[in-house]
Amino acid sequence: MFGNQQPFYVASLDCVLKAYLRWTTNLPRVQPFYAVKCNNTPAVLWLLSALGSGFDCASKGEIDLALSLGVTPDKIIYAHPTKPSYHIRYACSQGVDTMTFDNEEELLKISSFHAHAKLVLRIAVDDSKSELKLSPKFGVPLSSAGKLLERAAQLGLQVTGVSFHVGSRCTESSAFKQAIADSRHVFDIARSLDFKMSLLDIGGGFTLWPLLENIGHKVINEALDELFPPDSGVRIIAEPGRYCVESAFTLAVNVIAKRAAVNETDGSSDEAGNRRMEYYINDGVYGSLNCILNFPENMKIEPHLHRAVGDSEPRLKSLLWGPTCDCVDKVLDSVWIPELRVGDWLLLDNSGAYTSSLCSDFNGFERALTFPVMTADAFNTLIRPHCKVFFLRSCPPGSWTTQQD
Ligand SMILES: Cc1ncc(COP(=O)(O)O)c(C=O)c1O
Repeated sequence: MFGNQQPFYVASLDCVLKAYLRWTTNLPRVQPFYAVKCNNTPAVLWLLSALGSGFDCASKGEIDLALSLGVTPDKIIYAHPTKPSYHIRYACSQGVDTMTFDNEEELLKISSFHAHAKLVLRIAVDDSKSELKLSPKFGVPLSSAGKLLERAAQLGLQVTGVSFHVGSRCTESSAFKQAIADSRHVFDIARSLDFKMSLLDIGGGFTLWPLLENIGHKVINEALDELFPPDSGVRIIAEPGRYCVESAFTLAVNVIAKRAAVNETDGSSDEAGNRRMEYYINDGVYGSLNCILNFPENMKIEPHLHRAVGDSEPRLKSLLWGPTCDCVDKVLDSVWIPELRVGDWLLLDNSGAYTSSLCSDFNGFERALTFPVMTADAFNTLIRPHCKVFFLRSCPPGSWTTQQD
């Protein structure tokens, strides 16, 4: 099956399912609109759609993908504040009406190409508690929100909500608390301008741990209940990406070449006199592991060898290169692993977020294949009873693999 030794993912749909169920338990008032950009594997989108999730799409292409899987336009938010005009026109033609904006030029485009859109104002919020910041690029500063809303009113546009993103991999729920308070402030300004405000979108940035596992969700729920209580008539949504898929994917990469370390400054042996090794694997920063370029210091890649290795076998200080002819294509500078053979497989857990969706064809290396799997138990008890029609309609024969446990 893997004769060509292409890199591949095993995607545990059970993990996606569990993350979704945990979400509905912990944040019962917040409907997830999964951020397609994070990982657009069709089986993941099918599953989330079957469970009732909406979708955050960033472009015509993502809208197309969601619609092609049977998602209805009312379950899509076009959550990109700066959109090409023809993508706006396309959204309009498909009945995708809810979209974000954060500047006046965007309002002018929307008034030309989708004048009846339901607009959601993206505000800039404090993203200092997150590892990947988004506020430098998107979101109107709070101090300018009123002026922008006045402009929307002049153009006769319909502003119906507020959105924010605290940044990806947010580590403190206080960031959400503050952003929810900021949103309340903007809601009040908008209502004073007679806008019928009915949607709060608390964005992405969630991680399985610690935000939703510990007390993080309580802080969010309390802030929502205080500032947007259930009887306020405001619908709350979010755009989780990483939370839904990160831990569900394991990437398998193949060792395609090796050599003894040649870097003269580091020396070719480690402190104990063991050889230092360099390996070339068939996926790298131009492929699945592009996220290393974004935050190298935070990537905790811990590769596991696919075969058993005795405890007595020495661990050698090793460097992992990606496959392309570019020195930037380095996956790990230094990792202590047993000596690998060409042809060995290394397994990288937690590879579901911003991996396959950021892949390029640089140097012509193949993209990783994806094999979605689901336990028969989860499929039979949770999916089949509710989603028979959906699955019969949507899944090409043979596209599902089940496993016994
Ligand atoms: C507008 C928007 N929503 C949601 C997300 C998903 O964020 P996360 O994966 O951190 O949940 C992103 C990520 O870039 C985004 O830009």
